[in-house]
Amino acid sequence: MADKCHLCLLGLIILSSLLTGTSGVDDAHVFISSSKNVRLPCNNHLHVCKSTTWIYDRHSSSVELINLGIKKKDIERHERLSLGSDCSLNITNVTKEDYGSYICRQYVNGQQQGTDARVFLHVLHVSSSSSQTEISAGSSVTLSCQLYSDSESYDGVSCDDWIRSEGIQLFWVNQAGVKLTISDSRYQISAPGLCIITLTTTLLNEDDNREWRCEVTHRNQVKTSVTYTVKSS
Ligand SMILES: *[C@@H]1O[C@H](CO)[C@@H](O)[C@H](O)[C@H]1NC(C)=O
Ligand SMILES: *[C@@H]1O[C@H](CO)[C@@H](O)[C@H](O)[C@H]1NC(C)=O
Repeated sequence: MADKCHLCLLGLIILSSLLTGTSGVDDAHVFISSSKNVRLPCNNHLHVCKSTTWIYDRHSSSVELINLGIKKKDIERHERLSLGSDCSLNITNVTKEDYGSYICRQYVNGQQQGTDARVFLHVLHVSSSSSQTEISAGSSVTLSCQLYSDSESYDGVSCDDWIRSEGIQLFWVNQAGVKLTISDSRYQISAPGLCIITLTTTLLNEDDNREWRCEVTHRNQVKTSVTYTVKSS
């Protein structure tokens, strides 16, 4: 009995290190920009989607989105949700409010099969200090690019500490893809914390249609980006 338990413990340790090894940033964390479509995979055991339930969990309160393959119609954003043929959850026109964790759970005859498959969704969103869509030359504008994540996804540390430890970076690039830095005299770039990076600049006449892009990278690979296009008046 004691021997069995030791083996059991060892098995659990190996399994949990495998799980943490594979549930790193690539698998269980999905990055998307607001207004795009995203597909959240269910690492399912069963390919029968009528056994699949998707639960949305944020700030420790959860809502069922899909119940045994059937979409809940009383949810505000139900029109933007659909169940893929592989039981994945498809969200169209993502908003910054969609961040959080999504749990895929499968049942057979009322009994859960396997473990929960959890996907953390991180949403990149850009907002402008100007409420106008057209901005006149000579005025200053600040663009804030924020990565929205549920604190549960980085478990106790701050968002900034989490992205640093995972090798995730936020930055602004110009049309040519060149990273804007504080040494560019026309831009002020600052990272005030909370996973935000801001770009402040005074618009010039020639900026009409100019694009600035905010990117999030993981180990130097671009995960998603948001492009802001200047419309001057
Ligand atoms: C998600 O749903 C949209 C709208 O129904 C569809 O156009 C798109 O192809 C779907 N994407 C995936 C990955 O299933
Ligand atoms: C996406 O959502 C925004 C508001 O959040 C809306 O203005 C826009 O029309 C939507 N786009 C589509 C394709 O539904």
